[in-house]
Amino acid sequence: MAKLTVRDLNVHGKRVFVRVDYNVPLEEQGDQMVITDETRIKETLATLRLLMEQGGRLILAAHLGRPKGKREPTMSLRPVAARLADRLGCNVNFVDDCIGEKVEALANALPPGGILLLENVRYYDEEAANDPVFAEKLAKVADVYVNDAFGAAHRAHASTEGVARVIARRGGKCAAGLLMERELKFLGDELEKPAHPFVVILGGAKVSDKIKVIDRLLEKADSILVGGAMAYTFRLAQGFKTGKSLVEADKTDVARSALAKAEAKNVQFLLPVDDVVAVPVKTEKLDKKGKPVIEWQSPRTSSDMNCPDDAAGLDIGPATVKSYAEVIAKAKTILWNGPMGLFEDRRFAAGTNAVAQAVADATQQHGAKSIIGGGDSVKALNQARLGDKVTFMSTGGGASLEFLEGAVLPGVAALSDK
Ligand code: 3PG
Ligand code: MG
Repeated sequence: MAKLTVRDLNVHGKRVFVRVDYNVPLEEQGDQMVITDETRIKETLATLRLLMEQGGRLILAAHLGRPKGKREPTMSLRPVAARLADRLGCNVNFVDDCIGEKVEALANALPPGGILLLENVRYYDEEAANDPVFAEKLAKVADVYVNDAFGAAHRAHASTEGVARVIARRGGKCAAGLLMERELKFLGDELEKPAHPFVVILGGAKVSDKIKVIDRLLEKADSILVGGAMAYTFRLAQGFKTGKSLVEADKTDVARSALAKAEAKNVQFLLPVDDVVAVPVKTEKLDKKGKPVIEWQSPRTSSDMNCPDDAAGLDIGPATVKSYAEVIAKAKTILWNGPMGLFEDRRFAAGTNAVAQAVADATQQHGAKSIIGGGDSVKALNQARLGDKVTFMSTGGGASLEFLEGAVLPGVAALSDK
């Protein structure tokens, strides 16, 4: 890697500002916030242990949710400190602020190997604004900067970018953590020259979210398999009726040009040949955003490319699963981003689960390298209990997608060159 990593540092006795992505899902249980998925915490342990063994004095910074400058109590990092202490098997100090005298006193009192977690940096508006004065305040407690927050590396915020610039200007080193290094290796280097056949599986709601990735991967992939609601925008582009399916009617030209490019580049581009459809019925219940909750009635498999007027497509059907699984079984490199349907509902999870199984089998039985591009596909894989059967699962959501698009991530760019 062209950037400095924690392996290149000697941090003995130094104050190390470590940016981590502890934006973990939480659930309110009684008067407590409980962490429902600790993957992002676990994935930082190797970096933290390495720095602690070297005798670094660690000051951890992170965001949680989007409190937009307010001290939103449900977005406190305090429960994360407790869980982290548990996983590290040592004391983790927590301070209810991320800048100021109290933070400085605690940071300066840290012994070698000691660890302090700061409160949510987004309790300050200046974080997302990448305010230089705020970055200076964060940098006040640090000699060295380590970024292990791959999931937030697409944000040019004070704790992911600004503070690194301040420390570098002072002559301090700025290095990637081990998680950051792994993410860049698998989502970057490994896909630069993939072993062939290289099969890309793309799903999710919107073509517009994935079009840059499609465009880039059409240069390298042998096959692209499409599922999820985005498949229906392709259907619409081909002149079929899509009923009540989620489509982006203004993106049919984008879909058509992707198909044309695939043909020109000789890339196999597969769309679903059957679907699971159901009829949406609005209920009295409201969701978190205040919209009526939809109940899906009469789910059934349909191999009619025209969706019935009163129904929506919610999953890929069995014939599609079969053909996708055959392609996946021959792959040597697999990249998967986005579920094949509304997998949170068991009735529409079969397609996503079958793809997860096919990816796991290709990895375990045929030695394929499988890379899961984060977000919902990771959730789906874990739901199918196949998380440990693939080569790599990204901890990023938006960051993975932007990186796969070929973007330079500000949190990476700010690190010292080797
Ligand atoms: C994520 O969960 O995707 C990252 O932590 C970034 O969060 P954000 O989208 O609120 O910046
Ligand atoms: Mg996000």
